[in-house]
Amino acid sequence: MNINDCYNFDDFRKLAKKKLPSPIFHYIDGAADDEITYDRNTNSFNDVDLVPNVLRGVENVDLSTTIFGKKLDLPFYLAPTALQRLFHYDGERAVGKAAQKFNTMFGVSALATVSVEEIASLVNTPKMFQFYFHKDRGLNDAVMERVKAAKFDVMALTVDTITGGNRERDLRTGFTSPPKLTLSSLFSFASKPMWGINYLTKGKFELPHLQDHVSEGTSTATSIGNYFSSMLDQSMNWKDAEKLCSQWGGHFALKGVMSVDDAKRAVDIGCTGIMISNHGGRQLDGSRAPFDQLAEIVDAVGDKLDIICEGGIHRGTHMLKALSLGAKACSGGRLYLYALAAAGQAGVERAINQYRLELERDMKLMGCTKISELNRNNLRFRNK
Ligand code: LAC
Repeated sequence: MNINDCYNFDDFRKLAKKKLPSPIFHYIDGAADDEITYDRNTNSFNDVDLVPNVLRGVENVDLSTTIFGKKLDLPFYLAPTALQRLFHYDGERAVGKAAQKFNTMFGVSALATVSVEEIASLVNTPKMFQFYFHKDRGLNDAVMERVKAAKFDVMALTVDTITGGNRERDLRTGFTSPPKLTLSSLFSFASKPMWGINYLTKGKFELPHLQDHVSEGTSTATSIGNYFSSMLDQSMNWKDAEKLCSQWGGHFALKGVMSVDDAKRAVDIGCTGIMISNHGGRQLDGSRAPFDQLAEIVDAVGDKLDIICEGGIHRGTHMLKALSLGAKACSGGRLYLYALAAAGQAGVERAINQYRLELERDMKLMGCTKISELNRNNLRFRNK
């Protein structure tokens, strides 16, 4: 199997599994506790059916959408995810360049392995930075200033990682950042020698936004759950979020909002967007799926900020359903991470293109030529 044999999410996932040492694959693939929310995130889309219209003249389909004041050619973007150079040696460089090629947005994580300065020099299409509120206030201020100087377009504060999720796959495999060889992981690393050669020869593993302030994650190996629990500030509250929003002074979003109350408060503190997300099922297992929670949040605040549906998306039709309910755009991490692991920039480009082709085909089959034509009349909920 190679990248040209990959036609969908599951194909990219299978190829990634072949290429990555198992602790790294399971870090991407895993979620919290019994992974019920992780499964539900995708299955929620199957409780709703699409109702197409016909004879609408659909030869030209425009997939563009505007979020955070930026026009994107696609109604989905690549969510910020951590540690990308562990998945492919080009990491964020590959993801950023692929997003640029399709004129969609991509997010750079606070736990990114390539700096915002380098990304800014490589990519001139819209960029988001994902921020973690650390106990170390010096770190918080320094990161804010760097991202501002690099002229990123959107700042997204993650609000659903106040403590580490219970990721049992990581506990079993011993996954840490930086990766550590343990007796039990030795075989899985030894069985993927190309990964090891690339890891050792393609440039040092770094977390450029954090390592001048903290050693955890770069010189001290730590699990991601432990990083959240020990490095992030659990006292973070709405006042802190409001301060960060005004300190940033531009488009600001909360990533990981699930309730109508919180969505309303996001409006009150000046946010211009929210990501309805449960962190890909990696934090609170049993949490509701973003798609299930979308309608009530759209009804409450959809006219006041941009609502992004994030999580569980594997198909163009999943995006059509979320957009029909009122999301302005969709996003995902695993959506492109398996493809990154499978084949670097070419893999991510192939994944984006597959979703683009699916969307274009599905829009035609729905009888729609513009994203703004999608609406709730297109949907029927099976249980209602
Ligand atoms: C995770 C973080 C780093 O879910 O976003 O692993």
